[in-house]
Amino acid sequence: MFDTLLPRPVSVTPLPGSCPWPSPVDVRPADLPAEGYRLEIDPGGIRLFAADAAGESHGRQTLRQLVGPDAFRAASIHSGLSVPCGVVEDHPRFAWRGCLLDVARHFRTKAEVLRFVDLLAAHKLNVLNLHLTDDQGWRFDVPRFPRLTSVGGWRPSSMTGSGGAQDGRPHGGFYTGDDLREIVAYAAARAITVVPEIDIPGHARAALAAYPALGTSSSYEVWTSWGISTSLLSPTKSTLDFFRAVFDHLLEIFPSPVIALGGDETPGATGEHREFVRLLAEHLLARGRTPMGWDEVLDVPDLPPMVIGSWQNEAAGLRAAEAGHDVVMCPEQHVYLDHRQSAHPDEPIPVGWVHTLEDVYAYEPALTEPRLRGVQAQVWSEHLDSVRRVDYMAFPRLSAFAEAAWSSGPRDYAEFLPRLRDHHLPRLDALGVEYRPLDGPLPWQTRPGVPGRPR
Ligand code: ACM
Repeated sequence: MFDTLLPRPVSVTPLPGSCPWPSPVDVRPADLPAEGYRLEIDPGGIRLFAADAAGESHGRQTLRQLVGPDAFRAASIHSGLSVPCGVVEDHPRFAWRGCLLDVARHFRTKAEVLRFVDLLAAHKLNVLNLHLTDDQGWRFDVPRFPRLTSVGGWRPSSMTGSGGAQDGRPHGGFYTGDDLREIVAYAAARAITVVPEIDIPGHARAALAAYPALGTSSSYEVWTSWGISTSLLSPTKSTLDFFRAVFDHLLEIFPSPVIALGGDETPGATGEHREFVRLLAEHLLARGRTPMGWDEVLDVPDLPPMVIGSWQNEAAGLRAAEAGHDVVMCPEQHVYLDHRQSAHPDEPIPVGWVHTLEDVYAYEPALTEPRLRGVQAQVWSEHLDSVRRVDYMAFPRLSAFAEAAWSSGPRDYAEFLPRLRDHHLPRLDALGVEYRPLDGPLPWQTRPGVPGRPR
């Protein structure tokens, strides 16, 4: 059983016998690396030594895997379960093991986000980078600026795939402050930090539609297309004050030490736009938080120390580290889970490059500590209009990513694959995750006739 664990632990020592399940778990503090745990299972009971609350959470996840797929069901359906005896010692390779979830392009309900948090926890991932705002939707209620959600929170139609056709179907939704506080608390109880993102000065058309005075035109519409919009926030004093207030409200809800402000894909940006980004970064710093931006912000003069999400390529992350920033590696060449999973034409709405399960498993960041905080997979949702579509794109690639983020030492896909196929996929089945089968989509997972934009 111990050779089925995912992500693979630092060390395991199987011992003879088993312990009945459920049994009480005796949790004790221990001097172990951050997030580390040691499980000692013998016929008489289970001891869980934990470095911290995260270590306890991870140890409990390992225990669940040792019990078997049934332990991942919402209710117990069998009796006579047991856990094999042995010792597991474990701690993560990277401090930041993240996944971005884009709830702006396609809204995910609160219940769906909570479920996603459970799935991250089951994989010992510890950062949910929640992309709350974009051209196509604003999902974060700010009571002082109600039009952000009443206008910016929905759109009358969405582009179907990448071909330009519209579906003519309204789409929307947003989270109240209390919804988000609930998500944050639920995640924290599972050792996950929710890092919120408000994207400025591009990817902001929903905000412009709500308050056109933030821009240069008299009216804007929440975008119903995908792509890179040329509409940017106007980098004026009043726009700055507006977004300082928006971020201040964000800080009241999200205790995360890192707060993301976007900064990506700003065609036509001027020095004033770059200064606007710098001033908002300084604003977050002055309030005791570390700003995070996508690697485009490296072009901003006099940028304070930030966390840089290196998405355009690995070289951007190296450049960020040289400039004194911390880096989260999330390059689109490797860990963009909205990109297609094979070159087969049956892949639904195929966009981006082919990132197979094996490719994702092999991902190795070019940077090392101390500047490297960790790695992050990204689930952009332009073409993921339901939670079933998110499941399909995220899993099982996110399972492979989780092991690359957690486990040190060489990775051998031939060793990983049977562990995933024979032991981890049944866990996902028990959780009700509609992952992509290893040999391709099920008929209802295809999207015949909907064009993508493969690269
Ligand atoms: C990004 O993919 N624009 C960060």
